[in-house]
Amino acid sequence: MSGHEFQSWFPASGTIDMSDTATNIDETTLAELRQLVARYPQPRSALLPMLHLVQSVDGRISPAGIEACAQILGITTAQVSGVATFYTMYRRRPGGKHHIGVCTTALCAVMGGDAQLDDVSDKLGIEVNETTPDGRFSLERVECNAACDFAPVMTVNWEFMDNMTPEKAEQLLDDLAEDREVTSTRGARITSWREAERVLAGFPDGRADEGPSAGEASLLGTSIAAANGWTAPAPEEAK
Ligand code: FES
Repeated sequence: MSGHEFQSWFPASGTIDMSDTATNIDETTLAELRQLVARYPQPRSALLPMLHLVQSVDGRISPAGIEACAQILGITTAQVSGVATFYTMYRRRPGGKHHIGVCTTALCAVMGGDAQLDDVSDKLGIEVNETTPDGRFSLERVECNAACDFAPVMTVNWEFMDNMTPEKAEQLLDDLAEDREVTSTRGARITSWREAERVLAGFPDGRADEGPSAGEASLLGTSIAAANGWTAPAPEEAK
């Protein structure tokens, strides 16, 4: 044994607060949960989008949401909780209007991701996994967003904010705090975390086509190839 201890990045994630029974789930929500189930050959395949819908309505995975999913799917509340607490995109406690993610995985770290996280934490006055007292922001350290060509990357309600600098991050947070319009660098206008969760549940808001579908850095290789007349070898040549 090396004596090395595994360090969790989610030491204070806790569990679902079963004493917080507040809920906004109503008949409309239940009908939408059933609508999701009807989209899948196996009912329980709908659980992940159902949990996103619960979050959009209750701002977290609520005890009432767990009950509703279990009842509709005919599974136990333990099975629903087990799934909800396995994935980090499901919140166990209420979060802010805007969910800020800062990537600190290798490439973003090399480009200043950890310093970025410290700056954002200082600016908001909260630590990772906390929410500001006014309920406007929550902060999370996120793993690689598969957007390394735009490092360092932040996310707001899961939308990309590419090539961040301390100045850009400060402006972004000021704009969100003042409810000024903010647009993702490769995505839609920013709404709120709850609205984004509704889209993730499978109820589109019509904004999917806003913004570019791919950024210049991702397309650089194909542009150089096009400029030089390079093409991929035919499958038989590649053997
Ligand atoms: S390391 Fe940050 S997006 Fe890949």
